[in-house]
Amino acid sequence: MNAVGVAQPRIEGPAKVTGAARYAADVPIEGLAFGAVVLATVTRGRIRDIDVDAVRNMPGVLGVIDHRNAPRLNPKAGGFFGPDGQLQLLQDEMIPFAGRPVALVVAETLEQAQAAAHVLPVTYDEEPHDTNFTADHPAGRPAMTIFDEPVDVGDVEAELAASSVVVEERYRTPEEYHSAMEPHSATVWWDGERLEAIDSNQGPFVIAATLATLFSLSLEKVRIRTEHVGGGFGSKGLCGPQLILAAMAAHRFGRPVRVTLTRTQVFLTTAMRPATDQLIRIGADADGRLRAIWHEPAFEISPLVEYIEGCTELTKTLYAARAIRTRLTAVPLDILPPYSMRGPGAAPGSFALESAMDELAERLGIDPLELRLRNEPAAGPVSGLPFSSRNLVECLREGAHRFGWGTRDHRPRLRREGSLLVGTGLAATSFSAGAFPSSATITAEADGTFTVAIGATDLGTGARTALTAIAADALEAGTERIRLRISDSDLGPAWSAGGSRGTTSWAWAITEAAEKLRGQEWRGTVTIDTTQSLGGLPGRERHAYSAVFAEVTADPATGEVRVRRLLGMFAVGRVVNPLLARSQVIGGMIGGLSMALHEEGVRDPVSGRHVNADFAGYHIAAHADVPDIEADFVPDHEPGIPVGVKGAGEIGNVGTAAAIANAVWHATGVRQRSLPIRLDRVLE
Ligand code: MOS
Repeated sequence: MNAVGVAQPRIEGPAKVTGAARYAADVPIEGLAFGAVVLATVTRGRIRDIDVDAVRNMPGVLGVIDHRNAPRLNPKAGGFFGPDGQLQLLQDEMIPFAGRPVALVVAETLEQAQAAAHVLPVTYDEEPHDTNFTADHPAGRPAMTIFDEPVDVGDVEAELAASSVVVEERYRTPEEYHSAMEPHSATVWWDGERLEAIDSNQGPFVIAATLATLFSLSLEKVRIRTEHVGGGFGSKGLCGPQLILAAMAAHRFGRPVRVTLTRTQVFLTTAMRPATDQLIRIGADADGRLRAIWHEPAFEISPLVEYIEGCTELTKTLYAARAIRTRLTAVPLDILPPYSMRGPGAAPGSFALESAMDELAERLGIDPLELRLRNEPAAGPVSGLPFSSRNLVECLREGAHRFGWGTRDHRPRLRREGSLLVGTGLAATSFSAGAFPSSATITAEADGTFTVAIGATDLGTGARTALTAIAADALEAGTERIRLRISDSDLGPAWSAGGSRGTTSWAWAITEAAEKLRGQEWRGTVTIDTTQSLGGLPGRERHAYSAVFAEVTADPATGEVRVRRLLGMFAVGRVVNPLLARSQVIGGMIGGLSMALHEEGVRDPVSGRHVNADFAGYHIAAHADVPDIEADFVPDHEPGIPVGVKGAGEIGNVGTAAAIANAVWHATGVRQRSLPIRLDRVLE
């Protein structure tokens, strides 16, 4: 009767490998028309004219929607970060960034729509733009505080002055792009007064609520389904341009319309991780005990929507220091609005913090592992709250044992194999855990099965399989008696697959619904909402933890760095499905490897445009880059959350880049404080 904890392959695996599983752009719909998006080619300015007559008579063209004939949208619509100007498509002639949609061409076939979109004449009045991010940019101002308030504990200046060793350095990360395998796609039609959509997103309920607000519809008039999603990494957490534009077109032409972004359009008009520039000062006594951590990151945003890249999350919780100060600066520029991506804030923040800790260990002459063990906090260093459970030390010790850390000579540039330099490095990580309100409905069917309905989404991580196991145990039934329904906004309010809080939020709702059904002797139907019980959760520091170890080679002749080995030990609470959880954290570690060595959005400083908006120019780790990766879990349990889950969505990503950068220092003797660690940077 224990399905949780058992390694089960994905339920939908056979459907995916045989092609039977349908993604948003695959679903057949009768009478379908296709929309092709036209994006602004200037970085700032106004549309002078769109010559619709030039394409009106092209084969199959039904029409063009632009700012002159688009329906008016509700400017209050937004998401997690408040009202979102990124959603206000085709509302005026203003161009706030290169890649802003300026028109949608709708035609009978995809090819006809694309052909007309390709030649649609659009002229602009250009205005001067600024896309040049620097930490001391005059437009810089304090960032919004949601998730990551500035803190001031102790006297950082006095503690730094009293420190035996101080590290003061800047660390930089570039613009990065989510790059989910499946491009954003939506198919929308009006069923009488009701708007129906099949859309590629991370949470149909949240997206439906946003879309309803945007089009001033009541929520019951919007239904969004999302059966299979080919990855999101944050970019599908918001109401995407594909959905907004397809909804406009379905309304205008009175038939179903599908809008699928091209790969380049996904780069130019969905979302990205902002560039960061982070100043860190860490001071310690000669024995390695931290006196002060002072972390001041700056990141870029768009004036269209407030966003926070919360780079100081780990700084506030990972180590005991007598004084901690954090300040986050946002720099508004004429760029694509940034949005959460693969461990938002934590991933770039961890690169800075864990690189600086390695530099500190070097200057103190202390083993980097030992330095971390000496600074384990007994309670939250800023919050003062107890940790709900904290198994970082177990991750560090077990990882070090398996990796063979104990035999490491900590001096750099000593190991050689032929012409290659070899080095190892580590990083410690945390990622915040928690749950958001969700509802669930369970019906005991006459045939002895249970129908479990929850507005969850499976991005390809195996959520369907995990939730089936959780439901089976909660209902004291075998998994064969569970019929799980997910991916439909009609199933009620539910949190998205995001913030590493999908499984925690949904498991909570399913568990609570099952308890209620038990109370009525497993008969009938129950619906619950977890808003109240979440509110009863005691204040604790709740985090997942990991320790990541890396071995790299560096070629002094070419500057090429290759990762040879990665080992991650994780404390993510109870592991629902070891097979899928391992796959997920390995995927995260590959994302971290990719961040360390490859990923970099490049802008032309003159035009302000993104110049590598495709997979030829924007490099992502491919099979040949991915080494032997070992990932495993230490026993862990989250006491406050049903099933004991903490979430495994993003933590795999977070520590890996610093572990690799630290290994590159160990191999070469040179610090890499800017990502990615390109060949030219290593050669310099
Ligand atoms: Mo995410 S970056 O929590 O989808």
